[in-house]
Amino acid sequence: MMRRSFVLLVAALVVSSLTLQAGSAPVRARTGMVVSQSDIASEVGWQVIRGGGNAIDAAVATAFALAVTHPTAGNIGGGGFIVYRAANGQATSFDFREAAPAGSNAEMWLKDGKYDFDLHHNSHRSVGVPGTVAGLHMAWKELGSKPWKDLVTPAVTLARDGFEVSHGLARSLAGTLDEFQKYPASLAQFSKNGKPYEAGDILKQPDLARTLQRIADQGPAGFYEGETAALIEKDMKANGGLITREDLKKYQAKKREVIKGTYRGYEIIGMPPPSSGGIAVTQMLNVLEGYDLKANGYGSAQNLHLIAESMRRAFADRAQYLGDPDFVMNMPVARLISKEYADTLRKSINPNKASKSSPTTFTWPTESQETTHFSVVDANRNAVSLTYTLEYGYGSRIVVPGAGFLLNNEMGDFNAGPGLTTEQGLIGTPPNLAQVGKRMLSSMSPTIVAKDGQLFMVTGSPGGRTIINTVLMTILNVVDFGMNAQEAVDAGRIHHQWLPDRISMERFGFSADAMKTLQGMGHTISEGGNQGVAEVIVFNQKDNMLEGGVDRRAPDGGAAGK
Ligand code: GLY
Repeated sequence: MMRRSFVLLVAALVVSSLTLQAGSAPVRARTGMVVSQSDIASEVGWQVIRGGGNAIDAAVATAFALAVTHPTAGNIGGGGFIVYRAANGQATSFDFREAAPAGSNAEMWLKDGKYDFDLHHNSHRSVGVPGTVAGLHMAWKELGSKPWKDLVTPAVTLARDGFEVSHGLARSLAGTLDEFQKYPASLAQFSKNGKPYEAGDILKQPDLARTLQRIADQGPAGFYEGETAALIEKDMKANGGLITREDLKKYQAKKREVIKGTYRGYEIIGMPPPSSGGIAVTQMLNVLEGYDLKANGYGSAQNLHLIAESMRRAFADRAQYLGDPDFVMNMPVARLISKEYADTLRKSINPNKASKSSPTTFTWPTESQETTHFSVVDANRNAVSLTYTLEYGYGSRIVVPGAGFLLNNEMGDFNAGPGLTTEQGLIGTPPNLAQVGKRMLSSMSPTIVAKDGQLFMVTGSPGGRTIINTVLMTILNVVDFGMNAQEAVDAGRIHHQWLPDRISMERFGFSADAMKTLQGMGHTISEGGNQGVAEVIVFNQKDNMLEGGVDRRAPDGGAAGK
C-alpha cells in the first residue's frame, strides 16, 4: 500500500509541479530545481529539496532514480563526474570514472596483432570497474545532509513497483531488442518475453530493486562487496571478462580540484582530468574572449568560423596531452588553460580562412553520443552539475544476471592500441592507453558558471566528444547573446574536433547564407542530426529565480521545482 502510494504520489507530482512552458520560456522556480532527461527522476530530486535536502542530496536521489527510469545512460554500472559549487563559492569535483581492471593492458583489444572493434566495445572486456555508487556515496558523505537510505529508497520503489514506459523509452528499448538477445538477463529485464515494451506498459525491475536495496542498506559495500560483487564476478568469469571481486573492492572515487577559468568576468568551474571537458571548455572560452562575438551577431558566419577554429585547436591538444592524471604525469594543464596560451592560439587563426587540421596529428576513435547530464540547484543556491554514463546507449547491453543493472562499455574510451593511429579514426597515442587501474579519458563536461561571487549557470550534456562543444555553446548563448536558459538549450549547435576536418552543424540550426560563407572560407560542412541533450539552470540573481532549460532534442526530460 505504502509502495504503491509512493509511485502514485510521484506520478501526481510530476503532473502538478512540472511547469514546463511552451515556446522558449524557461521553467521558473525559486526554492530549488532539478533538470534531467527523465521527468520522473527530476521529480524525485526536487522532492528531496522540498523536504529540506541540499543539492548533493537531490543529485544522489536523482542519479539513482535515473538508473531506473533512464536505463540508456542513467546507471549504477557506469561512471561519471560531479562538479559542485557551494553557495559560498567553494567548488570541488568528484571523479567516479570507471577504472581498468587487473589484467588490462594497452594491447588487450588486439587479436593476432589486429585491432578487434567488438572486443573493445561490445564484450565483457569492454567493461570498466563501475564508479557511480562510490562517487555518489563520497559526495554524499562529504556534503549530503539527509540519510543515505532516504535518497536511494525512491529508486528502489521505482524499480520494484515499476513506472510507466514512455513513448521515447518504448522506442529506444525496441531499437535495442536485437542487441539484448545476446544476453538472457538483458532480454528478460527489458522486454516482455522477447516482445518489446509499449508506451503505457509498466516496467518493473525486481533484480535491480534488490541491488538498490542492498546499496540503500549497506552503502557502497552493497555494490562493491557481498552478493552484488559476487554476481558481477560470476558473469565476468563465465564470459571472458576481467573484473573480479578484488577489483570491485579496490575501486575508489576521487575528489579532485576543479578547473577554474574566467570568461568576460564570469568564473568558469569545470571538471579536471580524467575528463578533458574542463580544460577544453576553458581553453576555447579563453580564445573566444579575444573576439567581439556579440557585435558579430548570433549565428553569423564570422562567429561560427571563430568558434570552430577554437574547437579545432582544443581538440588537437586534448588528443596530444590528456589522460588519467594518476598515470599521465606531464599534462600541461596550467599552460593549456592560460590566457597567454590562448593569445598564441588566437594568433594562429585567420579570421577569414579555415585552418587545416594536419593529417599527421591525431584522430579519434568512435565514441558514443549517449551519456546523460542533470543540473541541480537548492534553496541556498548550492549547485551540482552531474554527468554520468554507460558509454553506449545501455552500455555493453549486459545486465548482470541476478543483479538487474547494466554494465558500461567504457573501456572503449581508451585508445585502441599503441601506435594505432589511423586515418580511419583509431588513435594510439600514449596518454590514453589502457593500464591496470587507469581511468579512460572522457569528454564529459559538467560545468558551473558564477558571476560576482554568486551562482550564475549550471550546464552539461551527453554526446561523446560533442559534449565539450555543446557545453561551450550553451555558455556563449547565455553570456554573449543574452539568451535565457531555454533559448540557450534550443539554439543550434556546431561541432569541430580537429579531425575529421569538418564542421558538423545541426540541421535547421543555421542559415543557408552562413553555411555558404563558411564553405567559402574553406570549411567542409556536414549537416547532422541532434547534438547533445543539454539540461541547464540559470540563476537570475536580480529576481532570485532559477530558470531551467529542458532539452527537447530527447524525449522525457523535465524540470521539477517550485
Ligand atoms: N563515454 C563518454 C565520455 O566519457 O565522454
